[in-house]
Amino acid sequence: MKRFIIALIVLAACVEYTFGKNLFEIVNKFQKRTKLRVHCYSGNDDLGVQYLMNGQEQHWRFNDAFFHATVFRCELMHGYEFQNYQKFEAYNSKWENDGSKKNVTWLAVERGLYKIWNHRTPEFMYPWL
Ligand SMILES: *[C@@H]1O[C@H](CO)[C@@H](O)[C@H](O)[C@H]1NC(C)=O
Repeated sequence: MKRFIIALIVLAACVEYTFGKNLFEIVNKFQKRTKLRVHCYSGNDDLGVQYLMNGQEQHWRFNDAFFHATVFRCELMHGYEFQNYQKFEAYNSKWENDGSKKNVTWLAVERGLYKIWNHRTPEFMYPWL
């Protein structure tokens, strides 16, 4: 019985991960040819390292965790030897939680990072360090 319950929880977690209603995405919107290194993770999941060329995007779908806040952090790097970087909170289930679908889009441009929250106007958030 115990095993069955564990299997069920694992399955539920997988389903939730694949068909989640919320998402955050990272888009490379640089004007100049730029390779963006993207590494996102939460307390439980490491989403791995990806490289995005101009115009490419990567998104992840999930549902918010039931018992604790869902928080994803990302580290973005670009430029010569990836010397320019920024580390930030890319998603937090506590942001304006009205229970509807959430789409957090991050635009990486020359100046830094813009955040689009649920299709609103892009808001400048972080310069590159
Ligand atoms: C999320 O929002 C952005 C900006 O409004 C939009 O370009 C993108 O297509 C949306 N993504 C999905 C998967 O709905």
